[in-house]
Amino acid sequence: MYKQTILTSVLSLLSPALALPLEPRDTPEFTITSLGATFPYPGVYGVDSVNSFVNVAVTYPDASSTSDATLNTTCRVDWPAGTNPGPTEWTACANPALQFRLPADGWTATTNFRVELFEELASNGAGLYATHILTSNPGNSSDPNAYMFCLQMGKFNPLTCTLTGPWGQSPRTVVMSTTNENGRPN
Ligand SMILES: *[C@@H]1O[C@H](CO)[C@@H](O)[C@H](O)[C@H]1NC(C)=O
Ligand SMILES: *[C@@H]1O[C@H](CO)[C@@H](O)[C@H](O)[C@H]1NC(C)=O
Repeated sequence: MYKQTILTSVLSLLSPALALPLEPRDTPEFTITSLGATFPYPGVYGVDSVNSFVNVAVTYPDASSTSDATLNTTCRVDWPAGTNPGPTEWTACANPALQFRLPADGWTATTNFRVELFEELASNGAGLYATHILTSNPGNSSDPNAYMFCLQMGKFNPLTCTLTGPWGQSPRTVVMSTTNENGRPN
């Protein structure tokens, strides 16, 4: 409690100073700050029928702010046991201002998929869009999309993925530049 209070007050002192040297951002960003996922892992070590999910935490521009303020939300898709994880339709995030999809073009494996995010800004449907490929690729540390680390531990457990780089060393974030769109992509 004590430590947290100190940390919070140090951060609140630092934030304005840190913000000053930055240029105003011309391109708004979405940032995936964390990811949790489980997938089936068939074979003698794993389990081939589990409740699978992908859950991401996202920081996105606060549409009502004039000073680059951001909001946080989480976006989650689920596949019940017995269903193969695969592409999804657009799904509302916990804050429905933001929507999330894992589209068919880009989904090549349960640990290699494209993420799309869309924030509706206007009543005519216009908004901000961004997309990024996320892969787990421990064999290739120069893969620019290898943000995920997926691990299966112990018998009868699913494959579990986090956003900790090709070897699970340290938490990563995925910063995505947005584009202005007239509507949510089909
Ligand atoms: C949003 O999430 C980020 C990353 O977890 C965190 O650093 C930040 O404090 C959060 N902001 C708010 C307003 O909760
Ligand atoms: C590793 O990833 C880089 C970047 O995507 C690619 O150019 C290279 O061919 C990959 N190497 C292997 C061995 O797959």
